[in-house]
Amino acid sequence: MATRMRLKLKTVFVLYFLVSLLGLIYALMQLGHRCDCTEHDMPMERTISRLRGELHLLQEQTKKSEAGRRPPKDSSLPTVFVVTPTYARLVQKAELTRLSQTFLHVPELHWIVVEDSQTKTPLVKQLLVKSGLTYTHLHVPTVKERKLKEGDPSWFKPRGVEQRNEALRWLREQRYSPKGRGGVVYFADDDNTYSLRIFEEMRDTRRVAVWPVGLVGGMKYEKPVVEGGKVVRFHVGWRPGRPFPMDMAGFAVSLKLLLEKPNSCFDGDAPMGFLESSLLQGLVTMDQLEPKADNCSKILVWHTRTEKPKMKREDIMQSQGLGSDPAVEV
Ligand code: UGA
Ligand code: MN
Repeated sequence: MATRMRLKLKTVFVLYFLVSLLGLIYALMQLGHRCDCTEHDMPMERTISRLRGELHLLQEQTKKSEAGRRPPKDSSLPTVFVVTPTYARLVQKAELTRLSQTFLHVPELHWIVVEDSQTKTPLVKQLLVKSGLTYTHLHVPTVKERKLKEGDPSWFKPRGVEQRNEALRWLREQRYSPKGRGGVVYFADDDNTYSLRIFEEMRDTRRVAVWPVGLVGGMKYEKPVVEGGKVVRFHVGWRPGRPFPMDMAGFAVSLKLLLEKPNSCFDGDAPMGFLESSLLQGLVTMDQLEPKADNCSKILVWHTRTEKPKMKREDIMQSQGLGSDPAVEV
């Protein structure tokens, strides 16, 4: 009886040993194999998809507001008011995008965009809202007699005059004096190229600051000539006898001076090349000009001009009913 019991126990023990051994071998075989059990994957997949969702949300937020790219606020700095006249054309969004993204790198900059139009356009409005910049959006149309017509050479009539004067009117109306730290006004056309350094050069302008402009007036550059720290004449090829033979991009005026001289503005009837002089004449004399950019030896702004894009193929495609979708903003 006892022998049978021992035999049974032995069998149970051997069976138990064999089952354990098989279990161990199976477990060892599974090691290193990819688990294809969907149940195990579920929590991992859910985490990944949640993280993806969060990443997408963050990316959208960064895209919507460029504010995060702005330099930190420094309330001790004078404000740079940048006045940009602009008008609707195929390259307008590209020009304003490039400009706004340059300005994002400049601390304490206030962009005054003045549209040459009957109303504020949705394109410019949206661009400004999304820009992340401090801005003021104005508009005033150029009167018909002063407006360039299709085919007119670009120098035929002055451009952006009413728009710059509208910005001056707005600045005077505000009697803008941001916390008494003053400001400077710069007329920055939408097609030029601006080095970030030029904004720091102009920031402490007392009356009118001046510097060279690259690629302008049929020259590599035009510049004020400085001797003993004063502007004595101008290096220009065309009509050097003008009171201030400078391009719009080559000077900035202190806000204080513009407020002190409330009637100074641009004269749209000024002869060709005299637009800049029409404002400056009422504000300063040559010996009061403040030379910047290492005594006017550095080029920090370029009078670049954007080529008008050719629409030959677009026109052909349109005549075939295959033109680009007009709902897509360019
Ligand atoms: C040169 C100067 O750089 C300008 O500052 C000056 O206004 C102009 O000559 C002039 O004599 O009136 P240019 O490159 O020939 O500039 O002029 P644009 O760049 O074609 O126009 C100057 C600004 O006015 C730009 O910001 C442009 O968007 C704006 N503009 C031009 C308008 O608002 N309306 C127009 O019909 C044309
Ligand atoms: Mn231009």
